[in-house]
Amino acid sequence: MPALTLTIDGRLVSSRAGETILQVIRENGIDLPTLCYLEGLTARGGCRLCMVEVAGREKPQAACVTPAEEGMVVTTDSERLQRYRRQIVELLLAERNHICSVCVVNGHCELQSLAARFGIDHVRYPYLSPRLPLDASHRRFGMDHGRCVLCARCVRACDEVEGAHTLDLQGRGVRSRIVIDLNE
Ligand code: FES
Repeated sequence: MPALTLTIDGRLVSSRAGETILQVIRENGIDLPTLCYLEGLTARGGCRLCMVEVAGREKPQAACVTPAEEGMVVTTDSERLQRYRRQIVELLLAERNHICSVCVVNGHCELQSLAARFGIDHVRYPYLSPRLPLDASHRRFGMDHGRCVLCARCVRACDEVEGAHTLDLQGRGVRSRIVIDLNE
């Protein structure tokens, strides 16, 4: 495969054709926050936390779904990117019921770690506090819609790793839900 050369945070790095910016970033040990990306699954570009700035492009690009190109100049950290990332996490926290003090994964939570990383000690948006169902009826599997951030990693793992595709996303925007067996 032909090699590409690009610049990331002022460093010249090489990549193979077909790789995404995120893959190049990870191969070069650069830390970039992600949420919906999970290695081994198809990238979805849903959460936008992995946004980077690419010289010549007005809008930030999601690194997990943007192919690396020859001569690209990429910035992974800037005041604008920090502002956007903080805003994304705040909106996720406001959208459902993330109450760490009563959460079983308190201390082992990616969303909580991201909030700490971005220095989020309060949320500037009104909490929606939706009443959402919790299904803990199965011995090994629970579904708590109040804490779901719609990363859809479970949907893709179920489809691409397990081959079952029994999970899916239904609805749009704030009304989106993970459903099982077409919500039957
Ligand atoms: Fe790239 Fe979510 S990790 S959009």
